[in-house]
Amino acid sequence: MTRRHPKGLPILFFTEMWERFSFYGMRAILVLYLTKETMGDNPGMGWSNADALVLYGWYTMLVYVMSIPGGIIADKLLGQKKTVFLGGILIAVGQLTLAIDNVVAFYSGLAFIISGVGCLKPNISTMVGGLYKQGDSRRDSGFTIFYIGINIGAASAPLIVGYVGEVYGWHYGFGLAGIGMLLGQAVYIWGQKFLKEVGNFVSVQHIEGTKKSIPLTGKEKDRVIVLLISFLIVIVFWAAYEQAGGLMNIYTKEKIDRVILGWEIPASLFQSVPALFVIIFGTTVAAYWAKRNKKNKESSSLFKMAIGTIIMGTGFLLMSGAALEAEDGGKAMLAWLIFSYLLQVIGELSISPVALSFITKLAPLKYASIMMGVYFAATGLGNKVAGLVGELATNAGELEVFTGIFIFCLAFGFLLLVFFRKLKALTHGAEEIKE
Ligand code: PHE
Repeated sequence: MTRRHPKGLPILFFTEMWERFSFYGMRAILVLYLTKETMGDNPGMGWSNADALVLYGWYTMLVYVMSIPGGIIADKLLGQKKTVFLGGILIAVGQLTLAIDNVVAFYSGLAFIISGVGCLKPNISTMVGGLYKQGDSRRDSGFTIFYIGINIGAASAPLIVGYVGEVYGWHYGFGLAGIGMLLGQAVYIWGQKFLKEVGNFVSVQHIEGTKKSIPLTGKEKDRVIVLLISFLIVIVFWAAYEQAGGLMNIYTKEKIDRVILGWEIPASLFQSVPALFVIIFGTTVAAYWAKRNKKNKESSSLFKMAIGTIIMGTGFLLMSGAALEAEDGGKAMLAWLIFSYLLQVIGELSISPVALSFITKLAPLKYASIMMGVYFAATGLGNKVAGLVGELATNAGELEVFTGIFIFCLAFGFLLLVFFRKLKALTHGAEEIKE
């Protein structure tokens, strides 16, 4: 029997759910708004596809790279709890600024959102870890639950904000994203009574009990090395996975047969499919890994991440299948896309919540938030690489790009499997804390 989770978990769950609603809602209409012509009803900015994708690439990278300053602010100045609060305000201000139809407002809005996500996203994740003491066996499942919250926001936002933005007007869409963040902020303020113990500022002197800063111990250094290796996996993983919003999205629109019972499903609806799969399969995948762990079979975090990369890569093999079927100018079966997303999500669930939990276990206390910040920054780099890889498809062709991603992920995953025992030995098993 698992024990009940701390009362702070639902508070962080709903705050992050609304933050992600706001984030993914805005992201769903950003490129559409940029590329819509400046005349007619619901005018946009009239940019070319290529320019819009460049801005999109920088935006999705910077939101997460700003997690490094976000982590530093938390560790050195405010503590995680207040930094999350600050982030929530910045995001809401940013989204509501985007609701104003004006170019200056547009760029300032983006800047506010980027700084806000940098303050909120890594620190709220570290706070989830802070709800559990070292060795608490509920930590992993806590992160799985938290991850499901993220994806409830991510699944519903493109549908709701996308609809409002396209039908009523882009700026109403951005405004709605702002209201989403305000709701998250309200939950967070209301829930402070359940968060008394977590995310408070701890001065370095307090941790070390002395004025001089003590260098990291050998074991702590080993742990940092393992964390840095896991960040490399994360870059590769998101560089492939984040094709969903770009190349896979365009491919779905142009070359997947989306007609069911005479109705052509809009391509944008498929953007919610991966998040839906996370909600449906989140607990199943986590339970599988937990069961393996109980049987004492290899289930260290690096192992799960290597397997996750391979499974996710296999999803791209299915996309190669689609590309082969559609090669002669026809359309490919929808099943290719759906099963590809399914495999990608099973991979994601073996990597993403695992990594969050793992960082809160391994990071030295005085660098807890910064380590999380660096992890998110790695995700940001992955997002940027994803854009570059997607662009390759315009010259190389989709079949080649999908197959290339498959081969790369497979090779990378197997390489990790070959070396991970050595890695474990190298780091004196530091990456495994038996809980
Ligand atoms: N769906 C995840 C989220 O929004 C994607 C992600 C993972 C983003 C890790 C950043 C870092 O949280």
